[in-house]
Amino acid sequence: MKKKIKHFAFYRSIRFYIMILLFIMGIVPSIIVESVIVQSYEDRAVSQRTVMVKNQCEILADQLFNRNYLSDTSDDVINGEFNMLTGIYGGRILVINRDSRIVMDTFNIDNGKYSLSQEVTDCLNGKETSHYDRANNYIELTFRIKDPDKKSSDAETAGVLLVSVSTTEISISKGILEERGTMILAIITVVILILGYILSGILVKPLQKITRSIEGITDGYQDESISVNDYRETKLITDAFNRMLARVKTVDDSREEFVSNVSHELKTPLTSMKVLADVLNQNPDAPIEEYRDFMKDISAEIDRENSIITDLLALVKMDKKSADLNITDVNINDELEQIIKRLKPIADKAHVELILDSFRPITAQVDETKISLAFTNIIENAIKYNRPEGGWVRVSLNADRKYCYTTIADNGIGIPEESLNNIFERFYRVDKSHSREIGGTGLGLAITKKVIVMHRGAIRVKSKLGEGTTFSIRIPLVHIV
Ligand SMILES: Nc1ncnc2c1ncn2[C@@H]1O[C@H](COP(=O)(O)OP(=O)(O)OP(=O)(O)O)[C@@H](O)[C@H]1O
Ligand SMILES: [Mg+2]
Repeated sequence: MKKKIKHFAFYRSIRFYIMILLFIMGIVPSIIVESVIVQSYEDRAVSQRTVMVKNQCEILADQLFNRNYLSDTSDDVINGEFNMLTGIYGGRILVINRDSRIVMDTFNIDNGKYSLSQEVTDCLNGKETSHYDRANNYIELTFRIKDPDKKSSDAETAGVLLVSVSTTEISISKGILEERGTMILAIITVVILILGYILSGILVKPLQKITRSIEGITDGYQDESISVNDYRETKLITDAFNRMLARVKTVDDSREEFVSNVSHELKTPLTSMKVLADVLNQNPDAPIEEYRDFMKDISAEIDRENSIITDLLALVKMDKKSADLNITDVNINDELEQIIKRLKPIADKAHVELILDSFRPITAQVDETKISLAFTNIIENAIKYNRPEGGWVRVSLNADRKYCYTTIADNGIGIPEESLNNIFERFYRVDKSHSREIGGTGLGLAITKKVIVMHRGAIRVKSKLGEGTTFSIRIPLVHIV
């Protein structure tokens, strides 16, 4: 149940982001387009109206002077035109003389008063003005009433025609336009949300499929694999998952095999000890020599059990990711000499001659204990799996600028070709009965390989049955982290 809720939240978030993206891509441009359209409509309507009023008032201003309206405002023709203009545009007209006195106000409010507004002063000084007051919905224009007889530019202006034109209907139209735009935006939003929901659902579906498939593989990793080929990306994901699954399966198999091998190996000495002890228990009158013999055998089995456990612990320790190396500068020549000295008694006992060829003094950055263990295992094998008489083991040491090369060659029993690939596996022994006699458990080479790999080195083997075996080891002189 918990899992389901988690997945649901996850997919919802992907859908959520897809929808947000579509929403932004669809709505933001629409809002911009709408506001640009409304604004340009307003600008155009206002400028059109301004031009129309200007055209008519410029003619009117000339007529005002010609008909001497500044002195006599009872001119019916002009007053008629004023009425018509204010009727059409719903505005107000003021006629102001050179002394800034209002000689005529179509609203009949300010007649005879003085107008000291900036626009009137500017206009009297020769500068006609035009101003749109968006907040109060009107356009205000000033026109000079020119006296063509007076040439000086100052004296040319005989008065001012101040016209205010209402723009209420422009703002009403703008409001209607905005309302419609908002409605269209709302429709677009709903459509985008529905489309976004459907589209994100389609996009997310293969991911849900993958999750279901992965959840389906619950009981172990039998021979199942998943396949969701809806998109190239989902195919890549499922392919990668299948590869990981195969790898997990291999690891799982080898773990199972390892556990069964360990149990078997640990049980064998115990079984032997049990048999030996049982025999003694059933024969209380057995001679003391027999007791001693059996106790010796039991002691050997205990040693064997002990060495298996020691080897296993060494392997497990190195298996851990955190297994760190204690790197120091180690003289490899000295190291090999010491190992050979230590193994000399065993070699002598087995009538095997030990030879060390060092071509130059070599110092490498290695973990001394672990490298010593690796070399010992190989040289020990070369002694153990040798011929009864006339056997030899030759250890050669050489190096170039980057690597140290060690070969351990013997003229022993050799390894059959089909076993060469397996000898580094844990518990693998070519001849189980023979190795048993010698006391091997099949862990030595597994440990060796692990140590070499930890040092970023390489190990190779060449062998011919009945003729001998050669192991070649390459280790970097400078430790690579
Ligand atoms: N130099 C060699 N000549 C012939 N066979 C070899 C040689 N080295 C290894 N082998 C074979 O490879 C097998 C694996 O070697 P490995 O060292 O891992 O195990 P082991 O010697 O049997 O046991 P231990 O864990 O005590 O070393 C050996 O049992 C043996 O059959
Ligand atoms: Mg060995």
